[in-house]
Amino acid sequence: MNREKVQIFDTTLRDGEQVPGCKLDTKQKLVIASRLDEMGVDIIEAGFPVSSPGDFLSVSEISKIVKNATVCGLTRAVKNDIDVAADALRYAKRPRIHTGIGTSESHIVHKLNTTREDVIARAKAAVAHAKSYVEDVEFYAEDAGRTDNEFLARVCEEVIKSGATVLNIPDTTGYCLPEEYGAKIKYLRENVKGIENVVLSCHCHNDLGMATANSISGAVNGARQIECTINGIGERAGNTALEEVVMIFKQHPYLNLYTDINTRQLNEMSRLVSESMGMVVQPNKAIVGANAFAHSSGIHQDGVIKNRATYEIMDPLEVGVNESSIVLTARSGRAALAYRAKKVGYELTKVQLDIVYQEFLRFADIKKEVVDEDIHQIIEACKSVTV
Ligand code: KIV
Ligand code: ZN
Repeated sequence: MNREKVQIFDTTLRDGEQVPGCKLDTKQKLVIASRLDEMGVDIIEAGFPVSSPGDFLSVSEISKIVKNATVCGLTRAVKNDIDVAADALRYAKRPRIHTGIGTSESHIVHKLNTTREDVIARAKAAVAHAKSYVEDVEFYAEDAGRTDNEFLARVCEEVIKSGATVLNIPDTTGYCLPEEYGAKIKYLRENVKGIENVVLSCHCHNDLGMATANSISGAVNGARQIECTINGIGERAGNTALEEVVMIFKQHPYLNLYTDINTRQLNEMSRLVSESMGMVVQPNKAIVGANAFAHSSGIHQDGVIKNRATYEIMDPLEVGVNESSIVLTARSGRAALAYRAKKVGYELTKVQLDIVYQEFLRFADIKKEVVDEDIHQIIEACKSVTV
């Protein structure tokens, strides 16, 4: 069976930047955009040009420097937003306008205070207007996760007729279960006329911790674009994490889906975004967290030292981490101590190791983590007994 590509749409600079207190300036955004481009991202959502002069400038400058990726600007289904986005994108080699409107009852009744028919009319007009500027027009049905499938299918069909090339089905509130979200994508594939001519896109939020699972379920059911951010940053509990979806496709080749991301750049990219935004990555974060390849219990350490694959499903080098770490704590065993001692220059005999290990345990019960310097100190202290 032929493998199919899933396009990676990175929205770190738009949805990701909506994290409270994590504002980036244009210079920082340019650095991140060019690194995303180098890493193989297919689409970079550079910002929401009408939202502020700073965002307009960032989208415009990013458009000038990006070499390979499509550069995308967000708009509401509002004529002026689209005019401004088209202006900001005028230097892009491959510009895309991303326009849309809320389609759930909650959005139609409470936010927009209007009717379904009016939503369809506004959606069509927005897509047609965007199409007068650029060939590549993505439409988002905001809160599609809570929109009934029949109405959603009608909206999709109408915007395809107006020229949409990509249909974004956002689970804006992070509400869906993976099965439910996947079924929604399948329903659209089976019930929307013209769907075979457009790309379906997943845009999932993480309010219930299921953004990545939902995106994968969407792709398995036929979506061929995933919208995501580095480190999963974004509004509230964040967006789908880019590094997670990319590695899932890599680790599960039987899905027959792949991306063009150079995974060896993932770790550095994660650090760049974390440092630029002043937003710490949780240590247990999948793929890029400080503990993602750290082993601290004796049983695990013994297994990893004998064969890395015992407790690691991927090679850390694949994501740009030089090697796994064996963290020495009071839960560590002799194998881990001997391994780390060897790394810092001590080849211990079995008898020496037994003596040093007892001293190590006394030390480790006091200190949370035993580092290289401590190992020197412990072994030197034992020398009178071990030599
Ligand atoms: O979550 C969402 O619905 C969005 C849209 C604006 C694409 O971010
Ligand atoms: Zn979003």
